[in-house]
Amino acid sequence: MVGVEVLEDADTLAERAADLIGDALREKPSLSVLVATGHTPMATYAELARRDLDASALTAVQLDEYLGLGEDDPRSLWGWMRRSFVEPLGVKQVVRLGEVPDPDEGCRRFEAQVAALGGIDLAVLGLGPNGHLGFNEPPCGPGARTRVVTLTPASLASNAAYWGDLPVPTRALTAGMDVILGAGRVILLVSGVHKRDILARALREPPTPEVPASWLQDANTTVLADRAACGVTRGPAFP
Ligand code: GLP
Repeated sequence: MVGVEVLEDADTLAERAADLIGDALREKPSLSVLVATGHTPMATYAELARRDLDASALTAVQLDEYLGLGEDDPRSLWGWMRRSFVEPLGVKQVVRLGEVPDPDEGCRRFEAQVAALGGIDLAVLGLGPNGHLGFNEPPCGPGARTRVVTLTPASLASNAAYWGDLPVPTRALTAGMDVILGAGRVILLVSGVHKRDILARALREPPTPEVPASWLQDANTTVLADRAACGVTRGPAFP
């Protein structure tokens, strides 16, 4: 079941997302949250950090990570998640991807740690320009496990915008679609006109491996999208 809320702009989207996440945290202080990086959720995390929330019992679970980077590499997605979410909110428990040298063992360990938490309560996700969630690149079925993936040219191109002159690693680890779709609730944040076509496909087409985000139609999903992402500048909102 998907609910879509259309927000005026990226700022109102961040406020609404922070409202929903804050409410979930107050309801369950030991919330397990799957945490996306990328540009879209950054304003939401900054807004959350400005609010008077106690996240000391929350567990933050990493969504994706490049393969083969050192801990201190500026491109590390764990580093990005730590700076934007874990530290500003005072989070004390984390489940990370890519902590152990053997990536396959790391994936198994990650899924076991998520299972030990009782699964994910809340997944806060962005939408890849090719419809990926985390790094679940198309084509990708709903049962895809946490695993090593090779990034598609579309993802290499979109991720290049994050790192200036540094090359984007070509392989990555991603929480599986099984972890994402098993979440008690998913909040998908979508901002900007460049996401308009892929958002429409994710919501309107029957679920398909070609658009991994379309599997969210079968999950408890709230889409928070700004008007630009919905292709609506005024008047009645999408869909
Ligand atoms: C990236 C990441 C995702 C992110 C998505 C959207 O490639 N792997 O976790 O949510 O693409 O990113 P952005 O919010 O910068 O558009």
